[in-house]
Amino acid sequence: RKIITVVGARPQFIKVAPVSRILRKTYQEILVNTGQHYDFNMSGVFFDELQIPRPDYNLEVGSHSHGKQTGIMLGLIEEILLKEKPDGVIVYGDTNSTLAGALAASKLHIPIFHVEAGLRSYNKQMPEEINRIMTDHLSSLLFAPTERAVHNLALENIVDSVRLSGDVMYDAVRYNYMIARDRFEISKFGQSKGSYYLCTIHRAENTDQPARLKAIVDSLMSLNMSVILPLHPRTHKILKDLELLEKIIRHKKIQLIEPVSYLEMLMLEMESKGIITDSGGVQKEAYFAKVPCFTLREETEWVETVNTGWNTLVNPFDMDLSTTICQKKMSNYIDDLYGDGNASQKIVDGIKSFYI
Ligand code: UD1
Ligand code: UDP
Repeated sequence: RKIITVVGARPQFIKVAPVSRILRKTYQEILVNTGQHYDFNMSGVFFDELQIPRPDYNLEVGSHSHGKQTGIMLGLIEEILLKEKPDGVIVYGDTNSTLAGALAASKLHIPIFHVEAGLRSYNKQMPEEINRIMTDHLSSLLFAPTERAVHNLALENIVDSVRLSGDVMYDAVRYNYMIARDRFEISKFGQSKGSYYLCTIHRAENTDQPARLKAIVDSLMSLNMSVILPLHPRTHKILKDLELLEKIIRHKKIQLIEPVSYLEMLMLEMESKGIITDSGGVQKEAYFAKVPCFTLREETEWVETVNTGWNTLVNPFDMDLSTTICQKKMSNYIDDLYGDGNASQKIVDGIKSFYI
């Protein structure tokens, strides 16, 4: 049988790596890269480092407004589906590439397998929330990373098609963390274990409100601690436009760097004193690395990290980041919140049983 996988953004390259490795033992996989992310350090570096097979199709869609970006992908993916006639389409997560893949397949009555299904922030201002809801409701099989995701789907009357697989990002961490340890040392960044906080910012709700982004930058600058900031190109552009970039570069304690590779990122996470982020994936990786996380959002889809006390939501307008970090008390660690590291195998097994 032939399966088409659609990816296009940084976190999807990381998620596809462990699944593809197992999927290809049984199925012919055709990999479609929409090109939603295209800079080498947002895309190519992951293919090289994680040995992801070369895409069969590179759509090179690039950056546009939501409707235009999704629309261009939709048309191009449809052409591929008509030509290749696959038995199923796998989509990952909640980006515009996810939605375009799911929409194109649904109109052609091709079964859709959604990896990382059932996450909800219950905030429809987030583009990701719309992408997830739509994709979940179009999917034939939904692979939920957590019990909570299964529950969220049940609330929307999606039950029989749901499989609790665990999280493929945990698979990726388990596979790669020793490799990361062996390959990179924190001295590369002029730091030592526990001497810095690691920060990432890219979510629209933070970058697209200048007052909010400024509040975040101010709170990072007020920390009495080194901060390593691998900056997403979206945030880089906006900070430049707001004339905040130079201010950050001049600040002695903030180390502004280009986005790093996955293995470097794992190493930076493991060696950090704590992580400040608005990324979905990085919140979980903080948990896997057993370092405290401070999430610059009002809500999170990864509620388990908050409920266990390892993650704290921080509203940059009315919470002082420095005080929040100082007051943080560590909690007991629960091991299997995100599965047992075999989510990818469970997903491939789920797909196999779909065809029986
Ligand atoms: C997208 C996803 C988001 C995910 C994130 C992961 C959607 C709606 N959003 O957000 O869910 O968390 O990816 O990183 O799908 N840019 C570059 N070079 C690149 C890629 C982007 O310069 O290689 C810049 C462009 O100015 C672009 C902007 O970043 O307009 C935003 O890129 P886009 O893919 O639209 O959204 P992300 O913010 O990356
Ligand atoms: N990541 C990376 N380099 C970076 C920043 C993040 O490799 O400079 C990885 C990170 O380890 C995680 C994934 O990218 O595995 C998260 O992607 P991102 O934050 O872009 O998106 P989200 O998870 O919020 O959708």
